[in-house]
Amino acid sequence: MIDLLIKNANLPDGRTGIDIACKDGKITAVETGITADAKQVIDATDRLVSPPFVDPHFHMDATLSLGRPRVNVSGTLLEGIALWGELKPLQTIDEIIERALRYCDIAVSMGIGAIRSHVDVCDDELKGVEALLDVRNQVKDYIDLQLVAFPQDGVFRDPTAMKNMIRALDMGVDIVGGIPHFERTMQDGARSVTALCELAAKRGLMVDMHCDESDDPNSRHVETLAYETTRLGLQGRVAGSHLTSMHSMDNYYVSKLIPLMVEANLSVIPNPSINIMLQGRHDTYPKRRGQTRVRELRDAGLNVGFGSDCMMDPWYSLGRADMLDVANMGLHVGQLSSRADMTWCFDAVTQNSASIMGLKDYGLNKDCNANFVILQAKDPIEAIRLRATRLKVVRGGKVISQTPASTAHIDLPNRPKVVEPDI
Ligand code: FE2
Repeated sequence: MIDLLIKNANLPDGRTGIDIACKDGKITAVETGITADAKQVIDATDRLVSPPFVDPHFHMDATLSLGRPRVNVSGTLLEGIALWGELKPLQTIDEIIERALRYCDIAVSMGIGAIRSHVDVCDDELKGVEALLDVRNQVKDYIDLQLVAFPQDGVFRDPTAMKNMIRALDMGVDIVGGIPHFERTMQDGARSVTALCELAAKRGLMVDMHCDESDDPNSRHVETLAYETTRLGLQGRVAGSHLTSMHSMDNYYVSKLIPLMVEANLSVIPNPSINIMLQGRHDTYPKRRGQTRVRELRDAGLNVGFGSDCMMDPWYSLGRADMLDVANMGLHVGQLSSRADMTWCFDAVTQNSASIMGLKDYGLNKDCNANFVILQAKDPIEAIRLRATRLKVVRGGKVISQTPASTAHIDLPNRPKVVEPDI
């Protein structure tokens, strides 16, 4: 007897009428017409069954702090960093844990199964690190939480940041972070990339850097990140987050830069909702969009996954842990509107990001973990269009969250049912 049998599901790759058998926390079969006895059977007719959403870029130490001690009036990235600096000495470890756990509950209900969170190490007490290490342990049965040691105030600009970075890694933080564009000079930024990549190489760790999150067309830290990745043999272990300056760079320079990024096999993590809000703040009109060159980077063969970055914190007042909302924003800002591109945007919040995080046994194949989401949508495009309800969230073969079906889009009285054409 198996534990769970999903009947007649649609899968993100376009297959329909698929049954999924689960036993002992694993997927044991994905095929049509499974007849095994099961303790629980779920009919998924006309429903998309997807592997869990994966958020490869988040700040869990800041989430749900909106308004504390005040709101960001200008709405800029720099005021957000200043505001975060005001909040840091005020908050306690218990408060960070309580907010993070509340966020994780929301995330699970929205079908997120894995999160990479940056945690600020520019705090000599390392309260955020201590809190999120505790949270990582508390949520491990329902969320894979990876932590990045993130020197928010600059690993050189803040006099104790490098020491705290090493302390955080010693305490068990997984990944080396950085923020070269926030160092005092371009030279310091480049030196910080070198030092942090060398630290990661020495310890055998991955790197995920906030890199060139600016509108400056002359910022060159992505180039340095690619160079150091190749020099130190870190190919495949380094992610560049944001990379927004690339939207402002000269096309000729980008034609040199992208091959360097390919040589380094960098992963790319745009954060569409946040950067469409934060970038271009000094522009009048035309205003720049603030998203890196997603299509060009993807077409060059780089792995690109969308992150959410923030929810209700010093930088961003909105958000609801909805990776479909993130995919929707990335789709619009990147003008990724063909059927294939829209489906790719779904991959950018599922399998691409799982690959960035190096998640083991992720996906809807035999022997993968029995982790998935049943969505109130028939395919990935409809899921993005509707920001579809997560009807059931399954982890280890057990339903851990349920949401009633929405009637908002399909059953309004006296209105025809919206049907996506078969294209
Ligand atoms: Fe970030």
